[in-house]
Amino acid sequence: MNSNTKSIVIRGIGSSVPQQKLTNKDLSKIVDTDDEWITTRTGIKERRIAGKDLQVSELGRAAAQKALDSAGVKAEEIDLIIVATLSSEMISPATSCIIQEKLGCRAVPSFDLNAACSGFLYSLEVGKSMMLNGEYENALVIGVEKLTSYTDYEDRTTCILFGDGAGAAVLSKTDGEGLGILGCKLGADGGNAPLIQIPAGGSARPASIETVEAREHYLRMNGREVFKVAVRGMAQAATDILEKHGIDPSELKCIVPHQANIRIIEAIAKSLQLSDDRMFVNIQKYGNTSAASIPIALDEAKIERNFKKGDPILLVAFGAGLTWAASVIRWYE
Ligand code: COA
Repeated sequence: MNSNTKSIVIRGIGSSVPQQKLTNKDLSKIVDTDDEWITTRTGIKERRIAGKDLQVSELGRAAAQKALDSAGVKAEEIDLIIVATLSSEMISPATSCIIQEKLGCRAVPSFDLNAACSGFLYSLEVGKSMMLNGEYENALVIGVEKLTSYTDYEDRTTCILFGDGAGAAVLSKTDGEGLGILGCKLGADGGNAPLIQIPAGGSARPASIETVEAREHYLRMNGREVFKVAVRGMAQAATDILEKHGIDPSELKCIVPHQANIRIIEAIAKSLQLSDDRMFVNIQKYGNTSAASIPIALDEAKIERNFKKGDPILLVAFGAGLTWAASVIRWYE
């Protein structure tokens, strides 16, 4: 082994979700829907709601602290913080800076990354590259969302889907190769940007009476089109990254997909010629938590699927942009 070779591993992981639940039955009192429709079309039974007093910096801090505890790393040992989110606490400053302060980290580089539901995997890749090329030994990568702030509870086609939560990973640099994050396939197609948008609140359409009255601060989506592109994009990214690393899908211990829709997850299993039970699913409990979805699922999968050191695991996501990403890792903890 080349003594200069380094790997970036996930040394610890943690998650945090709000206590408050919003069930399908609750939603059926707000919009014209029912548990049977939501369950069969999406797999979702309930989601967590942060409410007005719980902010993303607190959700992210709690998940990050659990990841630090599980890694046995102190906040002062963190050299870099990346927060994947599309529901940043404020437009500025970055949520990562607020979390840095709350955790008691040093004045280390901290920034937010917006690749929507692919954000956590984008952040893993950015973190890995910065660590391999720089002086960073330990990094925090956090996926956190409060999507309910952007959810239109008058639109039954979207309000059934989204929930709040956070997940975090501690990345560490270690000697040797072939450990931890093996590689990542990232992609984006801005041509499909109109398929998922929050039209107002950015610099093009700042808040005004008109934008509020037109409900333009809420997420809008063409669900049917997103569904098709999502299946294609995720299946292709997964196949590409597995081929690149010479791993047959049948060798995977587990696939942890973005939790957007159970039918999308099943379609990916089919395209990889795997049975549905190889896919980790917790969408029934949390709905779609965007950038938080994969780290929350990974945190639960490591226990429920009994991950062992060296197990090959595939993470795969897609989201607004449209963006997609697939990462292959060897479990390290
Ligand atoms: N309850 C009851 N009926 C509903 C409903 C709800 N919550 N939402 C939509 N419907 C109705 C529609 O109005 C439509 O009725 P119509 O045929 O009379 O017009 C019918 O159900 C079918 O709608 P459609 O949009 O074709 O349903 P679908 O099977 O595509 O499911 C989604 C809708 C949103 C669940 C699905 O398209 C999806 O999950 N897409 C991917 C979205 C996604 O993952 N986005 C996140 C990206 S990170």
